[in-house]
Amino acid sequence: VAPLRVGIAGLGTVGAEVVRLIEEQSRTLAERSGRGVRVVAVTARSKAKKRSLDLRGVNWAKSPLDLASDANVDCFVELMGGSGEPALSAIEAALKAGKSVVTANKALIAKHGVRLAKAAEKHGGAFNYEAAVGAAIPVIKTLREGLAGTGVSRVYGILNGTCNYILTRMEQEGLSFAECLKDAQRLGYAEADPSFDVDGHDTAQKLAILASLAFGTKVAQSAVYVEGISSIAPEDLRAAEELGYRVKLLGVAVRTAKGIEQRVHPTMVPKSSSIAQVMGVTNAVTIDGEGIPPITLVGPGAGGAATASAVVADIADVARGIRAKPFGRPVERLRDTSKAPMERH
Ligand code: NDP
Ligand code: HSE
Repeated sequence: VAPLRVGIAGLGTVGAEVVRLIEEQSRTLAERSGRGVRVVAVTARSKAKKRSLDLRGVNWAKSPLDLASDANVDCFVELMGGSGEPALSAIEAALKAGKSVVTANKALIAKHGVRLAKAAEKHGGAFNYEAAVGAAIPVIKTLREGLAGTGVSRVYGILNGTCNYILTRMEQEGLSFAECLKDAQRLGYAEADPSFDVDGHDTAQKLAILASLAFGTKVAQSAVYVEGISSIAPEDLRAAEELGYRVKLLGVAVRTAKGIEQRVHPTMVPKSSSIAQVMGVTNAVTIDGEGIPPITLVGPGAGGAATASAVVADIADVARGIRAKPFGRPVERLRDTSKAPMERH
């Protein structure tokens, strides 16, 4: 069987690790997917930038759209970020050409996921985005495939590595918010615009994706109530601790009598609870299934290597010929959620 030819747009924290991992794991990938996987083309904003990557024999495309339209590329991997262009047109072009797409871009999925899933369904390519939520944690697969036969009443957790890293270091070392954020950026955890992390929008995007998979609704970030952590000081964390609590930024999506409630906000959790033990860049997602005890998945929630691991797993699924419905059911069966966030209660 001919190898799967992969084109990668974006060679930053995640993209560079994906190129390395495909090279490093080529034998295992071929064994596990029954087919070789080869990076044939890449692109990024600057061709001149020095990168510690061996790109000999790899074509450099002029633009993401050129890469997505390249007849030598079977699988287009989008790792640039951003909820609009050039990611949107490039992904859409790849899907319309019948190619498969892999992305880690939750901002784009939260805004255009339904439109892109429709294109994937119509033209037969896969649209895989495991890395978009919880980085290395296989939470998309768990909700989409693993729990396909089980109703879900609630899904919640710590979905942003940057915020949990900041809260942990502020609490344990008494450092300022600004110092901790700088370190999270240096370590490659934060978004290009870190206000998406600290103001809660990244968590809201991820929560909207999880809610869609859990409840069969259309992804709608506008339906999520959002509060971030930027006004929290080390004194607040100390005060919470004296009362026996830790502060965590939680995303919660729950089925209620009035509809699906989705919210993101800092939450005081008892220090003895399992969610309070989730420290640093680690994420944790709990799924309350109907008729089964809760399932909790815990693991690295950000960073190049953790994220690349999920991206490469998605590429391996494409190589195997797996074509899951992007949101677990036909797009026309997804229900609309309210446009405005529901009241907190
Ligand atoms: P980076 O900022 O490190 O890298 C972005 C890459 O995209 C760079 O190589 C950049 O080029 C390229 N790029 C940006 N804009 C353009 C453009 N207009 N045209 C062509 N190339 C462009 O981002 P990350 O690697 O951290 O994140 C990538 C994606 O992965 C995002 O969607 C992010 O949300 C998601 N993600 C990130 C995680 C993380 O821990 N970092 C975890 C989970 C998801 P150049 O190098 O020339 O500047
Ligand atoms: N900026 C994100 C975070 C990256 O810190 O969780 C992983 O999605």
